[in-house]
Amino acid sequence: MVTRRQFTAGAAGVVATAAAAAALARAGVAPGYSRSLGETAPIPEGKTVAARLVAAERPTVLTCFGGRPLPMWTFSDGAWPALLRLTLGDRLEASLENKLPRPDEITSIHWHGIRLPNNQDGVPYLVQPPVSPGEIFRYSFVPPDTGTFFFHTHCNTVEQLGRGLLGVLIVDGDTTESYDADTVLIMRDWHVDPAAGQFTPFFTLRGAGRAGTYGPVRSVNGAVNPEIRLPAAGDCRLRLINADVTRIMQIGIEGAEAAIIAIDGIAVPPLPLSSWSMGPATRIDVVLRAPQGTRIARLVDRSTPKPVELAHFTGSGEPRRKSRFSPAPLRAGRIPEPDLKTATRMNFAFHASDDGRLVAAPDDSAGGPLGEICRSSRTFWTINDRAWPERDHSRLPPPLALLQRGQSYIFQLKNSSKFSHPIHIHGHTFKLLRSNKQNRPEHHTDTLLLLPEEQAEVAFVADNPGDWMFHCHIIEHQETGMMGYIRVV
Ligand code: C2O
Ligand code: CU
Repeated sequence: MVTRRQFTAGAAGVVATAAAAAALARAGVAPGYSRSLGETAPIPEGKTVAARLVAAERPTVLTCFGGRPLPMWTFSDGAWPALLRLTLGDRLEASLENKLPRPDEITSIHWHGIRLPNNQDGVPYLVQPPVSPGEIFRYSFVPPDTGTFFFHTHCNTVEQLGRGLLGVLIVDGDTTESYDADTVLIMRDWHVDPAAGQFTPFFTLRGAGRAGTYGPVRSVNGAVNPEIRLPAAGDCRLRLINADVTRIMQIGIEGAEAAIIAIDGIAVPPLPLSSWSMGPATRIDVVLRAPQGTRIARLVDRSTPKPVELAHFTGSGEPRRKSRFSPAPLRAGRIPEPDLKTATRMNFAFHASDDGRLVAAPDDSAGGPLGEICRSSRTFWTINDRAWPERDHSRLPPPLALLQRGQSYIFQLKNSSKFSHPIHIHGHTFKLLRSNKQNRPEHHTDTLLLLPEEQAEVAFVADNPGDWMFHCHIIEHQETGMMGYIRVV
């Protein structure tokens, strides 16, 4: 069990000084609440949950499309996106059938953040054959962690995810007390021109060399600034998922008290939410004290000069709670604790390639440099000076590193570029140790956001054998080189 005290010490190690407290406040981290995490629950014998996922084009009208159907690619008929819900100990048996409309449109499912056996990880060529149109692949695994996860395809992801091929995976069994509501909020842009009723380009050279190509329509659960109805004065669990291919959001809540209770599925002692940066694939679970009467609370993204209201919350019914806001914590996670004394250190540097620097140069409008890049490779990004050879996974390079099973590692992650990179590892969950730029409490994450020129250290136990992808989750960066894998033997 992690106590509040250990957490505070780990959180900064420096909370005692006023200057440090001010730094924490600037970073959006305020002192926490007084309640520590619940005991880790034992993994019970569960049931088998079967799911049938059929990847296909389905003309769909999301309300954010302005009334017109778009040729979305989705996993199921009915509401977008697919939602799978298990209880800790349950086995998921999911069949994936590829009915995508192009003869060469291969696919697969990656269960993002789930520490599962390597052959269930859904990376084509690396751990499974790609699933071609007409084929079926069956996944079967027992997720070892509770929390909020999602799944997406891992080939031509910029388009497949861009068109909607994603789903939510929730593993229940992590609460110490029940909340008054439990609501999933999927935040993402759409590459859509609503007036024309068409998708706009998912990939641009300019975007790939910079921060990615933003979709012009912002949404939560497929709607522009929806009203989310909650029980008045309830302590409501919100599962925020940044499912965008590109956008890094700076998430805050206005008009209500709110606390983060989990990051990337793994519990943290409740931490007041003022602003939390969420790169693509990041999830946070938040408890919000819902408004009552005519009051409204707002979910905002402060990453742009003018904050964007993503959704708003209203409260209805008899007020549920009168007590001071002190949200119930979740149960502690079960991520193995790395041994920092014996850990092996490894360095990973994230760079732009020469072509990447060229395409990102301010003066790329004249056609000259872009023309050259069109003829050369689309390799704009590297890890340790190596780029994944092609946009898909079919030409496997050697692993970036060999790790010994059971050994603890400290990865020093160094971003020497002018753009941010959310760095994701498959099959494992990092513990953030320190960073030279962001003042965040110690927590677990499967996708660590590195700001420009940031250096951070993460630790983990390499306890899961196999080949595990290690890449940037800005998909255009991933698909133009910033992707590799580590091998745990
Ligand atoms: Cu969510 Cu390899 O990705
Ligand atoms: Cu990146």
